[in-house]
Amino acid sequence: MGAMETNVMFFGLFFIVYGIPISLIVLLIVWLVKSNKSNLYSKTQILYSSNFDIKNAAKILRNSGTVAFPTETVYGLGANALDEAAVAKIFAAKGRPSDNPLIVHIAERDDVYKVAREVSEAAKLLMDQFWGGPLTLILKRQACVPDIVTAGLDTVAVRMPANEIALELIRAAGVPIAAPSANVSGKPSPTAFEHVKHDLFGKVDVIIDGGSCDVGLESTVIDMTREVPIILRPGGVSREEIEAVIGQVDVVTKIESNDKPASPGMKYKHYAPNAKIIICDILENAENIRNQGGKVGVLIFDEYLDEFVGVKYVLSLGSVNDAESAARNLFGKLRKFDTLEVDLIYAPKIPENGMWAAVRNRLYKAAGEN
Ligand code: TXA
Ligand code: MG
Repeated sequence: MGAMETNVMFFGLFFIVYGIPISLIVLLIVWLVKSNKSNLYSKTQILYSSNFDIKNAAKILRNSGTVAFPTETVYGLGANALDEAAVAKIFAAKGRPSDNPLIVHIAERDDVYKVAREVSEAAKLLMDQFWGGPLTLILKRQACVPDIVTAGLDTVAVRMPANEIALELIRAAGVPIAAPSANVSGKPSPTAFEHVKHDLFGKVDVIIDGGSCDVGLESTVIDMTREVPIILRPGGVSREEIEAVIGQVDVVTKIESNDKPASPGMKYKHYAPNAKIIICDILENAENIRNQGGKVGVLIFDEYLDEFVGVKYVLSLGSVNDAESAARNLFGKLRKFDTLEVDLIYAPKIPENGMWAAVRNRLYKAAGEN
């Protein structure tokens, strides 16, 4: 055997004995990290609603950690609102612009005075009527609330949720909890545990699995520091319900295009799936849509389903007479279109009254309209 052949044999053997196993191990590690299948390489703990788990999550909040938790509106990504470093982690995990302030969540009505001052009689009436529940009040802030929470404004957004897991978590933490919706910035808000896991696994310390959210879109935000209170974001409590308690209020109708919109969050792209959304008279266009090729999705009501037989990607918001069901379904369906990888979504026009106002606001913003 020549020296050449010995070398070839040596390297061949070397490759079989070492090369193949090493390659396999490297591939396995890459797969584990990429697929998020293993908790081994992630810092995110999944917890549930037991007392033990809630206590654990509360402890992590007290130690400057981040916890995603269910509320009756959408999942929130929480941190101690009085801890600047902790709140900074929320912005980092979401990729959220720093000039968009956060809502501070409390578990007792009177804790409002810990973060806010000059609470008006009208504000108290709204708190009595709608807390815990999907209503956020903009009030003058206390000095203890760090600038990072309020984006440097002299006001603070405060809400007491209704969801039991949220309330127990905030109580156990013993501090007010700053929490935006627990989605990657710009994406539809998460209304189920899977949505949060999809967006934030590996980026936050804990995700609490609390099932699906009842309301399905965010709280109504109302500025109570104005002479006439003004609704900055329609949501889980309707304008009509608010006016029944405190009389007439204003509503912000358009995104203000200057640098200081009434609610800083309003100028950003929101709730958007990957596909482009086209809002139209869906029934009038049914034939065109049916005849269109390509990966086209239709977002529709149960009563219209017959018109779209044969269209591949048809998702329903529920009955055309049920705004609550449309609210509950909207974000989940928008996310579903992402997993179906459609290129274009046709969606119906939405009315403006009651709970429809919030559905309309989210869908139209997702479509890039004001
Ligand atoms: O239902 C909800 O409100 C959910 C759950 C988790 O509580 N939270 C939520 O947070 O939707 P977020 O951050 O996604 O939306 C908060 C909105 C933003 O549009 C923000 O600009 C506005 O409230 N906001 C917060 N503080 C404000 C302030 N001081 N003045 C005006 N707008 C404020
Ligand atoms: Mg949000």
